[in-house]
Amino acid sequence: MPRKDDTVPVMRIGVLASGGGSNLEAILRGGLPVVAVVVDRACGATAVAEAAGVPAELVRRETFDADFDRAAYTERVLDALQLHGVELVVMAGFGTILDKQIHDAFPGRILNTHPALLPSFPGWHAVDDALAAGVKVTGCTVHLATLEVDSGPILAQEAVPVLDGDTAETLHERIKEVEHRLYPETIRQFIS
Ligand code: GRF
Repeated sequence: MPRKDDTVPVMRIGVLASGGGSNLEAILRGGLPVVAVVVDRACGATAVAEAAGVPAELVRRETFDADFDRAAYTERVLDALQLHGVELVVMAGFGTILDKQIHDAFPGRILNTHPALLPSFPGWHAVDDALAAGVKVTGCTVHLATLEVDSGPILAQEAVPVLDGDTAETLHERIKEVEHRLYPETIRQFIS
């Protein structure tokens, strides 16, 4: 992997986000070379990108109905990433499952962070599901994204205890604190 110097890995990162963008913020704070942010809806991640001077592209998902054309939407996301010469895709709370074309375009080069210890609690409601199951420990997982959601090879995991009185919000906030450290660290290791 080419490097500018001994410490700064050079690989053009595109971040996909749909939420508040706290993981994006942590990745930017970590000095990782993010060249573009793509969001699928109006969300806080856009302001986080703009505050850092990183271009944010809204590739709006027009429908969440059964008629959603996933392949066509994936092509639009791919176009936005390719416009910025992205080499590594980093999903940080992206709410749309993308189709095969993105995996073909970025083979083994799509990372994701998930707020549970996979393979436990895959899916969009991982924190609620862990709480409902009554587990005493959950956590977060950084993994390679594959076509099968939340199933790719695990790169890093860290446990987070579930405390008495936790709500989904308090537990998710504690998990995110760990993600904010673990995700940038793992991305850095991956690209170096
Ligand atoms: C993170 O907990 C991530 O694991 C999950 O969505 C959340 C994104 O939060 N997939 P944010 O938008 O980065 O604050």
